[in-house]
Amino acid sequence: MRKPVIAGNWKLFKTKNEALALIEELAPQVKDVDNVEIIVAPVFTVLPSLVPATAGTNISLAAQDVFWEEEGAFTGEVSSRMLLDAGASHVIIGHSERRQYFGETEATVNKKTKAALAGALVPIMCIGETLDAREAGDTFKVLETQLKGGLEGLTASQFAPVIVAYEPVWAIGTGKTATDDQAQEAHAFIRGVLASLYGQETAGKTRILYGGSVKAENVKGLMSCADIDGALVGGASLKAATFAPIVRFRD
Ligand code: 13P
Repeated sequence: MRKPVIAGNWKLFKTKNEALALIEELAPQVKDVDNVEIIVAPVFTVLPSLVPATAGTNISLAAQDVFWEEEGAFTGEVSSRMLLDAGASHVIIGHSERRQYFGETEATVNKKTKAALAGALVPIMCIGETLDAREAGDTFKVLETQLKGGLEGLTASQFAPVIVAYEPVWAIGTGKTATDDQAQEAHAFIRGVLASLYGQETAGKTRILYGGSVKAENVKGLMSCADIDGALVGGASLKAATFAPIVRFRD
């Protein structure tokens, strides 16, 4: 069975004190939740402060990006080695905001995914179509291109730890969630592509998260879909009052 993952992507929100306050409020509200992997992704600068705050809790830490070189003259970048050192166990790679505003491509996502794996970080690799692509009937084509490009050159055993996040760009921060059927259809397609690359067994073990306006009100429906194994939550992860009920989707 695939253990569900509920991850909060805090994006460019939360200073150190704000983040600490959120963890302090969230941790007791989710401490009895087992069999769900709970992850939060603060900005880089906040990661080390959250290590003691999350120690002994069931909350893991992710970074929101990683550079592909381990070290060197790369001003402004952060490597997987530095992220591990800062306390991250996971890293979000290829988020649509990075593709849209920072020029990320399949090639950079591929290099970052390989660097994360080499550095013993679990990549949460994001893919998803824009509204234009969906309306043009290109959803599957886009997903396949992003998936195959991002994973190029990885063997099944190298790929095994990777978590995939399907985030339709038109559903991010818009309040428009994909319907359960739309999300399930995309997830089943993604699992099919993974099976073609790595075989049924590996594909059957891969966690595929849905992201895009996930809230307490829609998480149950999404989580009841056969191929949806978790959620990558933006806005609703910024408050314990809205994130804890998502983590507790089984209640
Ligand atoms: P929202 O939940 O705010 O739509 O953001 C989704 C997202 O981008 C998570 O990575």
